[in-house]
Amino acid sequence: MSIQTATPYQLLALPKKDALVRGVCGKTTRGIEDTCIRDRPSHFAKKLRQDARKRAAMGGQLPSTRYGVTDDRPQTAEGTRLQLGSSAAKTNAVVVSTMMEAWKIVESGLVTDGIVKDILYGLPVAINKIADLSALWDEVSLCGAVVRLIVDHPKQVEALEAYEKSRTSPRKWSVFVKVDGGQKRAGVSTATPEFEALLTALFTSPAISIYGFYCHAGNAYASTSLSEASSFLSSEVEAVNVAAERAKSRISQSLKSETREPFVLSVGSTPTAHSASAETRAKLSSLLHGTLELHAGNYPVLDLQQLHTSLIDRQHIAQRVLATVISYYPGRGDDSSDEAMCDAGCIAMSKDTGPSGGFGEVIGKPWRLGRISQEHGILTRTSGDNEGTLEIGSMVQIVGQHACLIAAAYPWYYVVDSDMEGGSDKVVDIWVPWKGW
Ligand SMILES: Cc1ncc(COP(=O)(O)O)c(C=O)c1O
Repeated sequence: MSIQTATPYQLLALPKKDALVRGVCGKTTRGIEDTCIRDRPSHFAKKLRQDARKRAAMGGQLPSTRYGVTDDRPQTAEGTRLQLGSSAAKTNAVVVSTMMEAWKIVESGLVTDGIVKDILYGLPVAINKIADLSALWDEVSLCGAVVRLIVDHPKQVEALEAYEKSRTSPRKWSVFVKVDGGQKRAGVSTATPEFEALLTALFTSPAISIYGFYCHAGNAYASTSLSEASSFLSSEVEAVNVAAERAKSRISQSLKSETREPFVLSVGSTPTAHSASAETRAKLSSLLHGTLELHAGNYPVLDLQQLHTSLIDRQHIAQRVLATVISYYPGRGDDSSDEAMCDAGCIAMSKDTGPSGGFGEVIGKPWRLGRISQEHGILTRTSGDNEGTLEIGSMVQIVGQHACLIAAAYPWYYVVDSDMEGGSDKVVDIWVPWKGW
């Protein structure tokens, strides 16, 4: 068995929320340092309620949902509680992509409070993390919760078997099989012999129970309309559905008369989740070889990449970066337009760009973050006229291209709530995200 690692989550000293809250809550964001702002914390729950009403009115039902604690990047106890607590789409299931997130979910009481009951470790399982995952499973099962894994290679199955054999009472791990829907990101394509070999390994393993099939169309970010996003969703569903059909036919060929729960077909990315309407579901449901589950991560935060899909409104974007204008260069731009420098570079905004170009848009001003270096960025004009200069020393709020990586850069987030009167620049809370792996 490979050497096993452990997550020293108790040693991760996080910034002290209480002291931060005492220092800034109730104050205006104009007086705080360059930072990351999360707006309208309750917006997500509201949006889910609206979506649910809309779909109910169309005669549909929401598929069960699994939220990416990791990808929406609250990565915070507060964000997770809000996400899972919405009465409209109640779910206890999350997907994490680091062990640290999983352990911090436990440590922050979300499992003992019964808010999280199902943790999916969302990467194909690393064989040196099985002991760590096993300890996590032992811990959460005390509260009746479960840890699930993703597999996409028979070696992972072998390693799980070897681990369980070493225990006095071997268990069966609940796994999703990761299906590559053509993105070549993770998973195995149903069109390859490797898929059949993996199914054989899984069905013959005493250490595995197949829970379902999982596909993530990251390429759906290229959608620019509802119909395009819907077709990405259909292709995700098709990929997991073909996989489930093959698995079902294995079961029937084996002549075992065992009854089992339907496979869970887990699909989604934020654009495809937005397109998961009752109509789409209705189109798909008659063809399904399992129960549909929708997973989404970026969904509650959103950004310029999501704006470009045309499936959201600008007002739904709930994250921005506050930066200071530090210098100004009249006429320096290619078309003799002005440029300015701010203290938000790729450490603050990430290097993610998007189809709309650049690294971020300045809210309410005809400027964008056009170029970035490590610690600073160059603000360029979005319109030809040289109207509206930027004052040195003033602050700008920038919406970035991809919220996930941006949020990962900050030690805490200032929470404002522009749904409240005068709330758009008043700090109402501080969220401290979990860090590390
Ligand atoms: C495996 C997996 N599942 C789900 C998600 C969530 O996708 P999104 O943030 O587009 O909702 C991601 C995002 O990277 C992912 O990698």
